[in-house]
Amino acid sequence: MKSGPKSRAMFERAAQSIPGGVSSNFRYWGDDSTLVVKKAKGAYLWDLDDKRYVDYRLGFGPVILGHARAEIIDHIAEAMKIGNCFAMTNEYEIRVAEKIKKITGVDLVRMTNTGTEATMGAIRIARAFTGRDCILKFDGAYHGFHDYSLWNTYPPVSGVGYRNDPFLVPQGSGIPRRVGDMMNSLPFNDKELLEKKLKEKWQDIACIIIEPLLGNQASIMPQDGFLQFVREQCDKYGIVMIIDEVKTGFRIAPGGAQEYFGVQADLVTYAKCLGNGFPVAAIAGKKHIMGEVGPGKIPHGGTYGANVVAMAAAEKSLELIENGELDKVNAHGQKLKEGWKKILDESGFPYVIQGPDAMPGIVFTEEPVCTEYKHWAVGDHDTYGEIISKCIEKGVMPDYDSREPWFISSCHTDEDAEFVLGVFEEAVKEVKAGK
Ligand SMILES: Cc1ncc(COP(=O)(O)O)c(C=O)c1O
Repeated sequence: MKSGPKSRAMFERAAQSIPGGVSSNFRYWGDDSTLVVKKAKGAYLWDLDDKRYVDYRLGFGPVILGHARAEIIDHIAEAMKIGNCFAMTNEYEIRVAEKIKKITGVDLVRMTNTGTEATMGAIRIARAFTGRDCILKFDGAYHGFHDYSLWNTYPPVSGVGYRNDPFLVPQGSGIPRRVGDMMNSLPFNDKELLEKKLKEKWQDIACIIIEPLLGNQASIMPQDGFLQFVREQCDKYGIVMIIDEVKTGFRIAPGGAQEYFGVQADLVTYAKCLGNGFPVAAIAGKKHIMGEVGPGKIPHGGTYGANVVAMAAAEKSLELIENGELDKVNAHGQKLKEGWKKILDESGFPYVIQGPDAMPGIVFTEEPVCTEYKHWAVGDHDTYGEIISKCIEKGVMPDYDSREPWFISSCHTDEDAEFVLGVFEEAVKEVKAGK
């Protein structure tokens, strides 16, 4: 897929002032293919060359209620009239905290601005609460861009080592190697290894931070009972269970993964769907832990936390989500999954479709099911990339990166589904013919 002349020229200009021409490394698709956006509305996005795409990236997931959603924009515009940033408590913030409590069942909530900030804060709280330093995460999980997240997020498959003697790989330079002394990363869904590790090291481990499904590995699902097993182990050893719901929260159910999988965390992190694309996030959880956050106790701060724009965006987004928008999301996701299955069965490509209807993923693999990072990593990502490249060329835009699921919005229509499946079928056939 090549970008059009206007996108190309503007991207060249961007690269003069912005490293790589992008404000996040994950947005770079190549010098001749990185698009520049003109506008987006509902389920559609237009590039500078006026080409329209049915958008399944949704800004890496947040825009579940559609781009430039009128009710949200109007609510923010009205709210902004009282000012935005006070560094003092405001009524919008209180109402949003109350709504999050009602929808998810958490006891207390602190607002932040990004998912990265939320997971960083939750880890700090867990460490302070337990008086322990170490963190346990899972291979392939991404918890934001801070130093305590970027271990075994996306290593080469040989990089995680043999299961009885796993390695830790920092995801890039600039992450102090000594941070690795406090990190542990294990295969998702492996109860035996988790039990063994905790028996050896529980005294040092402050928290287990877990994506309830691997939303950064094409939505690998937890096996039955795995999240409940993590819960039991945390209870057994006094470890704080942090469920990172940045991708799943207010998406796979109004109450997120806690509702969907029937498991309760000690701390939960939210972002993305909480504000439909406006920068808002939250750390939430049980009173006996969150209640310890405060002056002279557990530190947490931030100039922009709970600013009015973010809170108004969250208030209206949550209201819409509470009022049935997720039904539309799920119906569309189900339609796509059914269509993909038919097309891929006919194609002869070995594949797995996985994940909830609101964020399904496709992996080209011989594995009958993906349960952990390695299963995804040995997949045929080049074929996926070729198919997606053709889809984008034809006006359907999931992310190129096969780690990303397709994000569904409540604005995607049945006509979109028909168009998208037609495009997907063509792309699969063209790639197959070229093999
Ligand atoms: C599970 C998870 N946690 C945390 C983050 C970081 O969120 P942000 O990009 O808002 O910092 C992400 C981002 O994709 C994520 O998927």
